[in-house]
Amino acid sequence: MKLLGLNFGRVKGQCKEFLEIAIESARKADPSVEIEVVDTISMKINRCLGCGACSRMLEGGVQQISCIQKDDYENLANKVLAADAIIVAAPVYVLAPEGSLKDFIDRFGPAHDKAYMLFENALREEGAAEGKVPLEPNCLKRHLVSYISVGGASTPHWVSFGISQMNLFGMSMNMKVVDQANVFGCYRDPEKKIQKTKECEHLGRRIVEALPLKNSEITWESEPGICPVCHCNEMTLNGTDTVCCPICGIYGTLKMDGHKVTVEFTEEEKLRSRLNLRGVLEHQEELGRKPRYPKFDEYLARFLEKVDEM
Ligand SMILES: Cc1cc2nc3c(=O)[nH]c(=O)nc-3n(C[C@H](O)[C@H](O)[C@H](O)COP(=O)(O)O)c2cc1C
Repeated sequence: MKLLGLNFGRVKGQCKEFLEIAIESARKADPSVEIEVVDTISMKINRCLGCGACSRMLEGGVQQISCIQKDDYENLANKVLAADAIIVAAPVYVLAPEGSLKDFIDRFGPAHDKAYMLFENALREEGAAEGKVPLEPNCLKRHLVSYISVGGASTPHWVSFGISQMNLFGMSMNMKVVDQANVFGCYRDPEKKIQKTKECEHLGRRIVEALPLKNSEITWESEPGICPVCHCNEMTLNGTDTVCCPICGIYGTLKMDGHKVTVEFTEEEKLRSRLNLRGVLEHQEELGRKPRYPKFDEYLARFLEKVDEM
């Protein structure tokens, strides 16, 4: 099994420090896991040009979906695809994760949408006789992911979009999120640093322990958050008691008990989250791809049966 640590901060910065704490804890939990840590700061990752060539490759039947730009993106994308588990650490710049992480997500996500790949692969299997090849298997396997967001501020309102936006990294590929750590306030507060060190040790151990488990067997042990699926605290209000989790795209009902505020989500709505396979499958219809797949409903039923193992 392969564990990949991705550092989007400085080579000797806080992200690297907390990532190494998590990696060391993972190594202790299972010394047989193959580990690689990458400093992405030394990589050149251009922004997405929006040309759509990657999607055309997916629809065109090639084995490897790639980007037409020649920089370090492909190397990083291949490392992500080959890993079984990934720990991503990124600094908060101006309230959100630093920009090259988003540039990577923009180039990686859309053509590696799990549902899109499953549907295209099914089409390819049917067209195998015409010379179409199946997708590279790493594209369709399960990936586990955990996030470490690191801000320099002492107060949580200066890291507002850090951890929530890091959830965009694994969203399209339907990676299973095992844990997340929101690290801030460690420059000036030694107590806080001890607490955040423990959280990152926990995060490293948990991702390795989750490797042999099915998605449904992986429990959430960190801060529950307001959203029961992504465990983040952001909600979009529309002036009624119906609110939406902007990460998952699911709707819930706001409940108030004195000063205590919670949001109730139905079981059906939780399953609809775009962090779940069911959510990304639903997105295929929303994108208008139904006519492209004459056996759409048949594919959907087949992949829904696999929800637990994916
Ligand atoms: C351009 C820039 C913007 C930053 N904005 C924020 C911010 O909005 N909130 C915050 O908590 N820290 C902010 N920081 C501080 C970094 O998050 C902090 O120094 C972190 O440790 C950087 O990660 P690294 O040490 O791994 O490189 C900013 C730093 C830079 C360089």
